[in-house]
Amino acid sequence: MLSGQKTDLILAVLLLFFSATNMKRAGPYSRETILTLKYILDKPQEMESLECSLYTPTLDEYTQKCPMSTFSCYVNEVKVLVSETGRSPIKRLAEQLIQLNSTSKQQKESDACPCCESYSEQPPKVFLSTLRIILEKKNTAVQQKPRGTRNG
Ligand SMILES: *[C@@H]1O[C@H](CO)[C@@H](O)[C@H](O)[C@H]1NC(C)=O
Repeated sequence: MLSGQKTDLILAVLLLFFSATNMKRAGPYSRETILTLKYILDKPQEMESLECSLYTPTLDEYTQKCPMSTFSCYVNEVKVLVSETGRSPIKRLAEQLIQLNSTSKQQKESDACPCCESYSEQPPKVFLSTLRIILEKKNTAVQQKPRGTRNG
């Protein structure tokens, strides 16, 4: 079992790992959105003023089960954050996510995807950090797509 501190450490290491690989890998796909997230996360005063909790699907829930509905959940929760704070970096994040959501390729997913409210509630910092990891994952997935197969 992991204590909260250990989980935080793992999250920090993951973030470091992803920001290091992201330098080389980030495509145009969600790079702007990741930069906005990084900006918000790097400002402790932005974060401290946020006292709500937000439904936060995990990376596993995003990759394994329901990519479209979990992403849509994130978009809706960021909209909630906008109404809580009205701060411009968060507004910008919401606009970028809405855009990303509408241009993302439709993916097949089960009809049995859980509703947004069934995911665990987390403080904004955990929510935004997880979202950042998901966007970086999205980026990598786009770039690792095969370049075209021979017979169609
Ligand atoms: C995200 O995109 C999906 C698929 O186009 C759509 O059904 C959903 O309503 C969108 N979510 C938001 C929050 O805009």
